Amino acid sequence: MAHGSEHYILATGGKDAKRLRLLHEVYGPQTEALLHRVGLSPGMRVVEVGCGSGNTACWVAEQIGQDGSVLALDVSPEQIDQARRQAESRNLRNITFQVADAYTPHVPEGAFDLAYCRLVLMHLTRPADALAAMRALVRPGGVVVCEEMDLGCWLCDPPAEAMTRFFALNSALGERRGENFSLGASLHRLFRDAGFTRPEVGANMTLAVRGEQKRLLGMTFAEFAPELVQEGLASQDEVDQVTCSLMALADDETTLFGFPLVVQVWATR
Ligand SMILES: C[S@@+](CC[C@H](N)C(=O)[O-])C[C@H]1O[C@@H](n2cnc3c(N)ncnc32)[C@H](O)[C@@H]1O
Repeated sequence: MAHGSEHYILATGGKDAKRLRLLHEVYGPQTEALLHRVGLSPGMRVVEVGCGSGNTACWVAEQIGQDGSVLALDVSPEQIDQARRQAESRNLRNITFQVADAYTPHVPEGAFDLAYCRLVLMHLTRPADALAAMRALVRPGGVVVCEEMDLGCWLCDPPAEAMTRFFALNSALGERRGENFSLGASLHRLFRDAGFTRPEVGANMTLAVRGEQKRLLGMTFAEFAPELVQEGLASQDEVDQVTCSLMALADDETTLFGFPLVVQVWATR
């Protein structure tokens, strides 16, 4: 998805909906616990930046009831279309959608009690600018909540070369693109630099030995693999081999996966 010189490396719309469903199964429970912890409650006005296919936004809409409202934003019209369909199928009437860029969302400033994003800032070349825009969306006393990965922190047991390559190639591609796929580790600093004086921190790593969720990594790799080849970071043969091995590891119940660490930071404006 184009934004000036930026384009998002993963798929969007129907092509990405299943992967985002698996991602939500992996990380959703901790997201939900976090949002309750920061005070999500009926009647709140919430904005989500980079909502993808709407999994968290729809859950939030259910939590805040008819007196609350959710505005779900994404730069991709295809993602917004998926998210809207999900809201319709869940019969949600307190949620609206808008194609909008995280840097300049064109949404009334100070209008929200809570601004949230998950795995969005790590895909941007100017995460500080996007965080500043999120900060501007909440009223004084409102809360900003972000969850971002640290791709340097994961587990695979027994160790597997394909997993090591997956993370090395993913990080190399991020670096090449000017994006920081280990942003989670320094997210608290980004908050301080944005003017939040007392950010709070948490983290979660989900472990799995079986289940469809283990396919998340192979599916993610398959989405960004063409760019690895295009950038000369890997050959087509290598990406085919890594994809195949990641899927085999996912289906092997004797292999433990620790999905990349997700760091949670939140703060009051
Ligand atoms: C990894 S997905 C995460 C989706 C969702 N937050 C979730 O956790 O399921 C990243 C999302 O950020 C969106 N995105 C990428 N660049 C963006 C930008 N500049 N402004 C707004 N959204 C953006 C993508 O379209 C995609 O839906």
